[in-house]
Amino acid sequence: MPASKTLVHAVNAEPEGYRYTTEQVLSSLPGGVSVSNKVFIVTGSHSGLGEETARALSAHGAHVIVATRSETSGHAAIDRIKKGNPQAKLQWMHLDLSDLDSVQEFVKEFHKTSLPLHVLICNAGIMAHPYAKTKQGFESQFGTNHIGHFLLIKLLMDDLIKSGPGSRVIVVSSRGHRWAGVRYDDPGFEDGKAYDPWKAYGQSKTANILCARTFNEKFGDKGVEFFSLHPGVCSTNLASGMSEDVKKEMLSMMPPGSESMFTNDPPKWMKTIEQCAATQVWGATSPELNGKGGAYLDDCHIGKPLTEEAEDVTGENGRRLYDMSMKAVSNYL
Ligand SMILES: NC(=O)c1ccc[n+]([C@@H]2O[C@H](COP(=O)([O-])OP(=O)(O)OC[C@H]3O[C@@H](n4cnc5c(N)ncnc54)[C@H](OP(=O)(O)O)[C@@H]3O)[C@@H](O)[C@H]2O)c1
Repeated sequence: MPASKTLVHAVNAEPEGYRYTTEQVLSSLPGGVSVSNKVFIVTGSHSGLGEETARALSAHGAHVIVATRSETSGHAAIDRIKKGNPQAKLQWMHLDLSDLDSVQEFVKEFHKTSLPLHVLICNAGIMAHPYAKTKQGFESQFGTNHIGHFLLIKLLMDDLIKSGPGSRVIVVSSRGHRWAGVRYDDPGFEDGKAYDPWKAYGQSKTANILCARTFNEKFGDKGVEFFSLHPGVCSTNLASGMSEDVKKEMLSMMPPGSESMFTNDPPKWMKTIEQCAATQVWGATSPELNGKGGAYLDDCHIGKPLTEEAEDVTGENGRRLYDMSMKAVSNYL
């Protein structure tokens, strides 16, 4: 990225100039910086931003673990990527973030490979689903988007430290974090009674930002840096679990003329998938970010969270969430 583009910018603007693609990010890495033979785990990498992230990194020589809950979909994504690049080093491994037993099993299986781990990209997510619980009883968006990834990060921490300095963890959040903070005393929405699908998504995405910031506070001096980010808005499978009413509600939050946003011909204001995935690829690879761990990224820039709670100037919110999350996963550590 040109240095002039690394300024904090108006976070609600998505000017054309900020529409970098994954390829632009990776081909503009300075000489001597390469992803070749580095190992990346990308969660939810059989579709959308995760698949594009796996494709782009493997096109530049990275070894990518495609971590998905469906074996068929994981292998189908690998086949699609290999069609364009038969040399791509991609390996499927089972991971269901809504089940902490599965997260633990994934890490055991990863350790059996004896591979090092340089970068973990916590990309998987669900948005505005109807009320449901994960296997261990967490509200499904909080449980999948935050708690599952929290445990994954904890269990892979020693691997990341071993590969450092320079290891990174990327936690994909969203500007949707502005819809709600963390309900520290009741993240399950009174066991469903007070449930609102957008607030639950907002809660989980605020948690993603606080999670990266607090892990960085606790482990940043051990050679691992943590970043959260908003990727931009693009058409993926993310709306697939929403009810029709919730889709309508989403449309009402979008600029006029956005009716085609759930189709293969989305409105022009939306980014392409390659542009949306660029920020997580930038966060995972750019030396411009060395020493800036804890930052929230937006459109391949260092941005600023949209709420005071997520900005968390004192770090108190993040520490509170960290302690609460540690309790939630304590049986799996
Ligand atoms: N697209 C956007 O405009 C946008 C905007 C802001 C933020 N984001 C964030 O970007 C990330 C990627 O989303 P996307 O847009 O690329 O949507 P997507 O195509 O639906 O990708 C989400 C991925 O997460 C996986 N996933 C869901 N639940 C899982 C679980 N329990 N265990 C393992 N994997 C699971 C999905 O797999 P299954 O098919 O098995 O469910 C899917 O591969 C999400 O964190 C989302 O919040 C996207």
